Amino acid sequence: MPGSVARHVSRLSILTAAIPFSILLVTGTTVWKPGYTPVAATGQAAEVRSQHGMVVSATEHASRVGTEVLKAGGNAVDAAIATGFALAVTHPAAGNIGGGGFMVIRFPDGRVTAFDYREKAPLAATPRMFLDENGEYSSRIHHNSHKAVGVPGTVAGFALAHQTYGTLGWHRLVEPSVALARDGFALMPGLTRSLQYAIARMEPYPASVAAFSKNGEPYAEGEIWKQPDLARTLEKIMLEGRDGFYKGETARLIAEEMRRGGGLITEEDLAIYRAYEREPIKGTYRGYDVISMPPPSSGGTILVEMLNILEGYDLRAMGHNTSASIHHITEAMRRAYLDRARFLADPSYADVPVERLTSKEYAAELRQSIDQNRASVSDPVDIELPHESPQTTHYSVVDADGMAVSVTYTLEAGYGSKIVVPGAGFLLNNEMGDFNPLRGLTDTLGHIGSEPNLARPGQRMLSSMTPTILAKDGQLVAVVGSPGGRTIINSVLQVILNVIDFEMPIQEAVNAKRLHHAWLPNTVRVEEDGISESTKQGLEAMGHRMIVRGRQGLTHCIMIDSVTGERIGAADPRDADGRAVGY
Ligand code: GLY
Repeated sequence: MPGSVARHVSRLSILTAAIPFSILLVTGTTVWKPGYTPVAATGQAAEVRSQHGMVVSATEHASRVGTEVLKAGGNAVDAAIATGFALAVTHPAAGNIGGGGFMVIRFPDGRVTAFDYREKAPLAATPRMFLDENGEYSSRIHHNSHKAVGVPGTVAGFALAHQTYGTLGWHRLVEPSVALARDGFALMPGLTRSLQYAIARMEPYPASVAAFSKNGEPYAEGEIWKQPDLARTLEKIMLEGRDGFYKGETARLIAEEMRRGGGLITEEDLAIYRAYEREPIKGTYRGYDVISMPPPSSGGTILVEMLNILEGYDLRAMGHNTSASIHHITEAMRRAYLDRARFLADPSYADVPVERLTSKEYAAELRQSIDQNRASVSDPVDIELPHESPQTTHYSVVDADGMAVSVTYTLEAGYGSKIVVPGAGFLLNNEMGDFNPLRGLTDTLGHIGSEPNLARPGQRMLSSMTPTILAKDGQLVAVVGSPGGRTIINSVLQVILNVIDFEMPIQEAVNAKRLHHAWLPNTVRVEEDGISESTKQGLEAMGHRMIVRGRQGLTHCIMIDSVTGERIGAADPRDADGRAVGY
């Protein structure tokens, strides 16, 4: 094990031994990197209003496919499935059939439910599977290898959601994506840049380079991009349902690629994969209902824990992105993310105390440990940034009846494992990277070595995805979510605070600069130009270590106008290709 890592092994067991935050030391080291160049915000920055239905996603093609399904009489679940398949074609960095995700649904009568189609570990997985031949933890094996691929869940999840709540025929939901892949579409600016970036990293995988380039040369903006292998796979799914993916030729091609590259997934792993319908997390915040994703995502639990803590403070009086409000929000994040590291995992493999973590009583206890004027400390030395992939994707759907669907799904890193299944044309995820690396390996780089989220046969890896719906007095209010690894929960939190506490219109709430703290590393990461110099100095004086970052989250949201009932689509302008499309 590398020395710097070894020094910090078992830090978690020390830090999690119920140490009151009030007695943790405060250090003064400050890191502030002026001049960081952020990703240009070139996307749709203005809200879109509609009378009936709305889809907001990472591409206009996908939002249109979803809206057309609504116009054809489909409900929000139908539209979400069709949008998801279209993103697998038009947003290959994160849209997928080779990954997994979560769907939260609120029906017009106020009932709520959720679907879990998270990837899972293959039957041959073990907690020590990320060690190399010398017995040392290997980040490459964990994140960037065939062993990093989890058993995909997306197709099973869409099929189960459709079978349970869909109204249009399955064929109608998949067909537009077959056509997009087969006939091609003109490359958008964001996707063109993204593909150029991706093919440079796909060198070890010829099928991937072939799928995403013209014989190794990048496509130019506006060129027509066709994906014939993907079209054939989608056609099988269209005709055979989930069996078109988990059995027969597609399953065989996946298993063959695994055998070629030393991966663990077999035909049996694919055949036995199951998606689940689950009871959502339900919380409240200042009179609003918060409906979000339960474990194996940490998202809903940690979101509600943070909201419960913050309910005890008058954030509106403190002001948006002031040192006072950022201090209190950061202290809530610190405590909730420590609990994430201690307790959150696949509920079939760990006893997750969801009820306590989401209770108002527990939040009141945690507030007792927050000093109004001093930062607590999670770790006394760390200033490093862990890897946080921004490449998950979130989309929101509301139909004419007021049914709302919030979906976040992912390949984990941008383009996942970078491995396209030869002959099948789709990317495999590298979601095994969301398991903890090794028992006891907790360090300042953001590795967490706690027991519950270790890789075991069939276990689902812990996620941060936080597809969320807000309601009030029995009425739908908003659909919210984001990509961004561990930053996801904090991005969703801040959109909610912006709407409820700071009374921003949804587009302003989406556009506003964000911050992130995750217990470890002990830094407050703020988007470029997110706060003033005096606010930064105020936070540093309290003991916070400040870091500037380029961009956090892509929160494609929908809000309902409480007066007119209009659907207000707010695409996140941080996403060049993201679009709201309504009718
Ligand atoms: N891979 C991102 C997440 O599941 O949180």
